[in-house]
Amino acid sequence: MNTYRLAGEDDLQGVRSLFLKVRESIDNSKLFNWSPEMIETELINSQFYVSLSTDQVIEAFISFRENADSIEILALGTAPDRLRSGTMKGLLKGFAEKFSKNGKGIYLEVHPLNKAAISLYDKCGFKLSRVRKSYYKDGSDGLEMSYF
Ligand SMILES: CC(C)(COP(=O)(O)OP(=O)(O)OC[C@H]1O[C@@H](n2cnc3c(N)ncnc32)[C@H](O)[C@@H]1OP(=O)(O)O)[C@@H](O)C(=O)NCCC(=O)NCCS
Repeated sequence: MNTYRLAGEDDLQGVRSLFLKVRESIDNSKLFNWSPEMIETELINSQFYVSLSTDQVIEAFISFRENADSIEILALGTAPDRLRSGTMKGLLKGFAEKFSKNGKGIYLEVHPLNKAAISLYDKCGFKLSRVRKSYYKDGSDGLEMSYF
């Protein structure tokens, strides 16, 4: 059974390596548009909530920023060899329950073609809250989904 916790300094190398692995595994880069430089910036500016296997390997991550009245999820990903095993559903549900306790809403943006992510968010209780016109570099709208 996996455990969930905030990543500390000692976890950053593992998070970096997983973030890059997820990036490399994506067929359509529009759906996960993170350059290695953006990933480095994210590692500095965001916090990470991670799922660890029984042998303490980081199998999934959620990067997020806590604002005054809300929490924004910037990116999330599961190790390519752990996909479709419920890893992210468990982590995201755990994250939403833990971080919504203080009354802050949680929101994120998703590309309309990222059907796997949209289905995941739906199953974890996120609802469509706004459509952001031409939000993505390819001109696609961004779907904002929120959890309250
Ligand atoms: C989206 C992603 C995080 C899902 O992770 P995962 O650990 O495989 O997801 P889970 O096994 O917990 O699945 C939970 C639900 O997500 C949906 N889902 C996951 N993968 C899917 C796929 N390939 N196709 C359709 N739905 C999918 C399903 O609703 C699934 O529930 P089900 O298994 O009961 O059908 C993973 O595919 C990933 O890392 N994608 C690349 C990064 C990305 O696109 N991140 C989102 C934008 S930042």
